[in-house]
Amino acid sequence: MSQHNNHLETKLIHGAQRGETQTGAVNVPIYLSSTFHQNSFEEFGPFDYSRSGNPTRQALEEKIAELEGGTHGLAFASGMAAISSALLLLSAGDHVVVTKDVYGGTFRFVSEVLKRFNIDHTFVDLTDLNEVSNAIKPNTKVIYAETPSNPCMNITDLPGLLKIAKANNCLTFVDNTFMTPLYQNPLDLGADIVLHSATKFLSGHSDVIAGLAVTRNQELGEKLAFIQNSFGSILGAQDSYVLLQGIKTLGARLNQSSNSAGRIAEYLNAHSFIEEVYYPGLPSNPGYELHKEQSTSGGAVLSFRLPNKAAAKAFVDHVRIPVFAVSLGAVESILSYPATMSHAAMPKEERELRGITDGLLRFSVGLENVDDLIADFDQALEAAKKEAGVTSVS
Ligand SMILES: Cc1ncc(COP(=O)(O)O)c(C=O)c1O
Repeated sequence: MSQHNNHLETKLIHGAQRGETQTGAVNVPIYLSSTFHQNSFEEFGPFDYSRSGNPTRQALEEKIAELEGGTHGLAFASGMAAISSALLLLSAGDHVVVTKDVYGGTFRFVSEVLKRFNIDHTFVDLTDLNEVSNAIKPNTKVIYAETPSNPCMNITDLPGLLKIAKANNCLTFVDNTFMTPLYQNPLDLGADIVLHSATKFLSGHSDVIAGLAVTRNQELGEKLAFIQNSFGSILGAQDSYVLLQGIKTLGARLNQSSNSAGRIAEYLNAHSFIEEVYYPGLPSNPGYELHKEQSTSGGAVLSFRLPNKAAAKAFVDHVRIPVFAVSLGAVESILSYPATMSHAAMPKEERELRGITDGLLRFSVGLENVDDLIADFDQALEAAKKEAGVTSVS
């Protein structure tokens, strides 16, 4: 039966790939084989060596290509491997325009690795399309976006950005980690490559490090597949299987977590000890209207600012339910401190320019009962306030 018209929640589970044809097993087998016997001296079968292609990985690659609506899906050993490999489509002498509040690891790759290969960059505020136009040079080949951005949830006007990119013959890469294909489809809007840290919502259980890329057209897909094979930073068969299983429950997980995130954002927004809440699903968020036009949910991640580092530390010390850890997008809620975690690779001055101050915390909402999470936040904020020497409460 054609899956073409089904909703994404259905495609997540069934989609183009359907278990295994020989035995009817509903799950794709884990093909733990580095090499494949060839029946013919003259003509090789579909697989020869697992760096170039593996049946379990291929099932995952077909799945993400279908979900994002692209021609080629490619699975990598990490989100950074996918991002770095896509940026290796650039050549010496090229220039890339990158959102200034890009993920810290991408910042590091662009500013410290690509630079050594004579690939130049400009970090710009992608919420200001004039700034983007002004940053474009004759040798600009790629505009790199992340929307909502991490951790301050800034929203880029994707159709507006894509118009500028097309007018200047640039490719557009979009990191879609926070929204996933469930809520945002950059390729449908005209982007050229969508990238994921599949470590996050797509896998969803904090058990795998993985990256995915999807290309809009055949030519780009073949070029990126060539880099994947040349650079060799592929996802192994077992991790491909784990990720395929995680993807099946993305709809149920992310919808529940996003509903809870909306409630928690409202709670924090009304709390007097919180200086600022960053959540694209909050009407008071500057990017709210824009985000609503290009995405179907505010997602499950929000950030909030406490008055200072001591207050943030006290809150983390007192909160009981979430894990305090790097990462996001899992069944367990994850609280993190961007200044020393996701953005540790960024110098302090750069960080602060991007709003990543010492009082900022990021919260990835898991599947716990939302009332329990709010009650936990309530007691931790009360304790933090006392420790920070503030007496009046909201
Ligand atoms: C938005 C975003 N992009 C990319 C990455 C890098 O992915 P990975 O850690 O899987 O290499 C992360 C990791 O936190 C991220 O949050």
